Amino acid sequence: MDLVSAGPAPVKDAYLHCPRCLLRLGWADASQGCAECTRSARVVGDIPVLVSDPSEMVRDWGAQRALFSRETRATRDVVLAQLAGQALPATTRTRLQRLYDRLGRHLGEVEALYEAAGVPAVDEPVSRGERVPGEGIATAYFDQIHRDWGWDTDEPGAALEIVLEVLGDRRPQRMLVLGAGACRLPYELHRAAGLETTVAIDINPVPFFVARRVIAGQSVALTEFPRCPRDSHAVAVDRTLRSSNPGADGFHLLFADGLEPPVPDASFDLVLTPWFIDQVPKDLATLLPTIHRVLRAGGAWLNHGPLLYQPTHTQPAHRYREDEVHELTQAAGFSLARHRWDRLLYMQSPAGSQGRTEGIATFLAEKKDRPGRGAVEAEAPGWLEDATLAVPRWPELDGYQPPHPMFAAVASLIDGSRSSQMIADEMVRRFSLPADAALGGVTTCLAEMWRARRSQ
Ligand SMILES: C[S@@+](CC[C@H](N)C(=O)[O-])C[C@H]1O[C@@H](n2cnc3c(N)ncnc32)[C@H](O)[C@@H]1O
Repeated sequence: MDLVSAGPAPVKDAYLHCPRCLLRLGWADASQGCAECTRSARVVGDIPVLVSDPSEMVRDWGAQRALFSRETRATRDVVLAQLAGQALPATTRTRLQRLYDRLGRHLGEVEALYEAAGVPAVDEPVSRGERVPGEGIATAYFDQIHRDWGWDTDEPGAALEIVLEVLGDRRPQRMLVLGAGACRLPYELHRAAGLETTVAIDINPVPFFVARRVIAGQSVALTEFPRCPRDSHAVAVDRTLRSSNPGADGFHLLFADGLEPPVPDASFDLVLTPWFIDQVPKDLATLLPTIHRVLRAGGAWLNHGPLLYQPTHTQPAHRYREDEVHELTQAAGFSLARHRWDRLLYMQSPAGSQGRTEGIATFLAEKKDRPGRGAVEAEAPGWLEDATLAVPRWPELDGYQPPHPMFAAVASLIDGSRSSQMIADEMVRRFSLPADAALGGVTTCLAEMWRARRSQ
């Protein structure tokens, strides 16, 4: 059985593209890789990885795995020392013993998920750091995994009801989900709205490893450690994660960057951002042109989530409130079809004694023909910021009119596999550019050429 799509036939349309050279790819190609690029594709846990450097991403996941193991072992040692070192009331001893046992079990469960996916532990620091604060650790979204597939609370049902109401009588066929996490809402929406194809994107491995299995009809054991357990038994809860409606056709998981989704222009008719816009982009205004770009004419963006923003990840000017989000959305070439604001229960573990209530902005914004004048350029692509990443050869480069011979020379060196450092080295070798100025000059040219493609 094809565990990735949980469906029979691969969809043939080329609604993905290679993040390195932008060659159009169909779903079946995502695991084969791009014929034009030298680096091979990676499939991790039966999930294709479509980023410009899959090996680096998988190495970082291995580093997260190693860190998780070290920290869990260290916590276990502390619990053991407490058990051994003092006289304890019987129930407290039982609680600590249970915690000790379950930490060991949990370590095995999580290690097994990485192992089955082929992600070895790497005893090195995470090379890319935390792109979003708090997300660089393996357990970052374990609460969401339990909420989605383990608890019998109605949080997922309430969210689905709201997004369906806001979607109205639209019947999209193809949906792109940015930051899908453990996938319950995107999956239920895919089923309820009768979508033909959904591509759910994320960069965090464990929620996707779990989602892939439960959506394929398997069950996954994952111990929960509630933040504030009610009683001594609830200090660790044995959970079996599963879906009561597995196996829907056409629901695909893809490891990719949601800020720069590897999909061609106008290839989806619905983009869903569930709990994403305040958490992941540093400035939502820079994500809007991307959402607009990937939508077909008449397509729509459906948002569902809070406006919380992390102070260490955002500037005050970019912590937009609901009315500002609406204004930005309209300025970026959308018209606001429907919106609502709900106060919803959030992360109310049945075994815990604490949970949140959050204000949730849900809206449907329809794509107008042209991007609005208020659209802001998307966040710089990774290869502009990291001189070692390959620079893609985007289609508009062929028609590019260079304003200066240096731009023409740089454009001629973009072949989809050279990085900006390699292009700079070539410029030094072939055109005698001063070595200390080459990389800066090449980066400036690349940024300008990348920006210019929007007006071509
Ligand atoms: C607040 S969580 C929301 C998860 C899920 N939608 C939910 O509602 O439970 C944000 C999600 O965005 C993902 N994420 C962070 N940066 C990302 C990126 N650059 N591209 C894709 N996903 C990203 C995280 O891994 C996480 O799953």
